[in-house]
Amino acid sequence: MASYEIASIPGDGIGPDVVDAAMPLVEDAADEYDFSIETTRFDWGSERQLEHGEMMPADGLDRLADFDAIFLGAVGHPEVPDHVTLHGLLLPIRKGFDQYVCKRPNVLFDGIESPLRGYESGDIDFVVYRENTEGEYADIGGREHRGFEHETAVQSALFTRQGTERIVRAAFEAATEREGHLTSITKSNAQAHSMVFWDDVVDDVSEEFPSVDVERLLVDAAAMDLIRRPHEFDVLVASNLFGDILTDVGAQITGSMGLAPSGNIHPGDAYPSMFEPVHGSAPDIVGDDIANPLATVLSWSMLFEDLGEPEAADALWTAVSDQLADESAPRTPDLGGSAATGDVVADLRSRL
Ligand code: NAD
Ligand code: IPM
Ligand code: MN
Repeated sequence: MASYEIASIPGDGIGPDVVDAAMPLVEDAADEYDFSIETTRFDWGSERQLEHGEMMPADGLDRLADFDAIFLGAVGHPEVPDHVTLHGLLLPIRKGFDQYVCKRPNVLFDGIESPLRGYESGDIDFVVYRENTEGEYADIGGREHRGFEHETAVQSALFTRQGTERIVRAAFEAATEREGHLTSITKSNAQAHSMVFWDDVVDDVSEEFPSVDVERLLVDAAAMDLIRRPHEFDVLVASNLFGDILTDVGAQITGSMGLAPSGNIHPGDAYPSMFEPVHGSAPDIVGDDIANPLATVLSWSMLFEDLGEPEAADALWTAVSDQLADESAPRTPDLGGSAATGDVVADLRSRL
């Protein structure tokens, strides 16, 4: 029987609520399909930062390196600056394990009312391939002349040929397995170096995929079109920052932040990949026991798919989709219901 070792980092805010609540369901799915998961929980995050001045131990990445995959809840605490928490935990893992594909599906499920008029189940179904290790998130820059009037901040974006090619190629590959339509997101009108370079790379890589039809959109127009004509998108490929922003739009038009899953994938086997809901630590609802666990469950489905357990992945995805389609099923308040986090998971367990 296959057995997988998973590192769990519930993190901050609602992270532990949704991660811990989902565990029994995830274990049920593994049992059902004859494999086992051994989870090791790491209590890393902002409480540790407040107590010991670090988000994770200095050898944190070494401790994670041998796991088959990582599951992360959320990072962010009202009492610690966000750049400290994110640069202390989430971003070093994405970068240090070369998880260069950030894959974010956006699906309008049956039973979910989109805030966009006239959209029904299945009308919105696209996936964003977000570059995840460089671009605007490169840690290049600094601040000089602090406190003076001529104080200066420089933040440089980094676009390498290798880094751009590999995310663009991953997106083309995904498009060949979907509807064959790829939208490349840039801002080449204003950013004439990095984004025109991105366009050139898309041109080069497109020659390997003659069957894929390529559309180019500026990011501002893309933000508009995701609202105006989301049904026309299939695969989107975007830089780190643009992908971040557009996937929040994607989450909202398909119902809720509480439904959006994500994978930070290192496609080789040198490092573990990390799966996490797109949402953050949601300090506005922490402690209320109403966090939607479905983004977490769908992220586990992506994790199982990546481990090579497609049946368990399907079982979780289908349980969520059946639950959403069932009007009498429990829902958390973000989806218009009044159920608690645990009620939603208990109902899913009964559907597996
Ligand atoms: P957020 O995603 O935490 O919350 C945005 C809104 O969505 C809030 O109203 C929240 O209540 C709601 N929401 C989010 N997840 C939900 C869920 N599962 N169920 C129901 N409602 C949910 O974003 P924010 O408020 O901008 O950021 C809060 C903190 O989280 C910040 O510190 C930010 O830096 C951090 N953050 C972390 C991640 C991450 O760990 N991957 C992602 C985004 C934001
Ligand atoms: C996300 C988050 C992170 C990101 C933040 C918290 C650094 O917004 O995963 O979408 O920008 O990648
Ligand atoms: Mn984001």
